[in-house]
Amino acid sequence: MLKIVEVGPRDGLQNEPAVIPPAVKIDFVNALSLSGVNEIEVSAFVSPRWVPQLADAEEVFRKIARREGVVYSALVPNEKGLARAVSAKVDKVSLFTAASESFNQKNINTSIAGAIQRFLPVAKGAHDAGMTLRGYVSTAFWCPFEGRIAPAAVIEVVERLIDVGVDEVSISDTIGKASPDEVGMLLDGLLSRISTDRVAVHFHDTYGRGVENVLTSWSYGIRIFDASVGGLGGCPYAPGATGNVATEAVVKALKSKEETVGVDLEQLANARRLLDPFLSEERRALPRGGSLACATCEFSHQDVCCGQRSV
Ligand code: HMG
Ligand code: MG
Repeated sequence: MLKIVEVGPRDGLQNEPAVIPPAVKIDFVNALSLSGVNEIEVSAFVSPRWVPQLADAEEVFRKIARREGVVYSALVPNEKGLARAVSAKVDKVSLFTAASESFNQKNINTSIAGAIQRFLPVAKGAHDAGMTLRGYVSTAFWCPFEGRIAPAAVIEVVERLIDVGVDEVSISDTIGKASPDEVGMLLDGLLSRISTDRVAVHFHDTYGRGVENVLTSWSYGIRIFDASVGGLGGCPYAPGATGNVATEAVVKALKSKEETVGVDLEQLANARRLLDPFLSEERRALPRGGSLACATCEFSHQDVCCGQRSV
């Protein structure tokens, strides 16, 4: 079955410079619940010092109106995060690591092996609590610090996550730099190790290739697509990471393949509009997200970009 995983409330809002009030986030999630998306990644139970934008995860989970049939998930980096997620009655938790050591260190302050060790009790605890479990593999194609990542390194991390006990992996193009050929190359190796229905794809859209990458993955049989309404998104610890591929664009692209996608675009737009007064000017100027890359140096983040920013 085709699934749209709406990650805007987490991936989108973690990367906004302003902290959006919890009441707005709650209205946003409630509006998304009415759109027909299958899952909503509502927030993250990470350190509030590392991501202050999502420090209100408990309050948001407590106050959203859960719609039957929609799965409400959150990121969890460690046992402390799991304890918070369990008391917030999260349906599904997502562990997250990376295929590159440098990004892993910058994002969760440990090595890949350290993350896997950290995840063992979290996975057990999540399953004991009746939650399903996702594992993200960030920098699955390109790392902002190490460059191109070999498919073998990604497959190795996927296998470790399966050993940990995840039900599903999300293969993530953190800085949105993958080409459809690179996506195909990874899926060629990966799908002989893990069944297609346990693989999600998570494309950021820095170079405007998100939709093409979604369709390439679809042609390999992948049916779980992460996306963010309005193309919000990015990771504060990944220079160059701009928005996720826009949910609206993914829905349209999949419909063009005659897939039945039960997502109402008008309702998505209603959800997206709720955020307008709170988003950065840059984001408002790009209502569908993506393509924030500088045409001169190809990076979008001010720490890395050459400064001759010509979008
Ligand atoms: P650390 O500083 O090494 O943690 O951070 P620590 O275990 O040493 O603890 C330090 C303090 O943090 C302690 O507090 C802990 O209690 C507290 P103190 O005793 O000093 O007062 N702490 C917590 N508080 C609340 N909730 C928690 C928690 N854990 C520790 N869960 C840590 C390690 C993993 C916590 C930190 O690095 C972190 O939170 N990182 C998250 C970064 C993040 O959220 N990045 C963005 C999401 S990933 C992403 O966007 C990629 C993705 O979209 C896919 C893709 O596109 O690639 C998923
Ligand atoms: Mg992401």
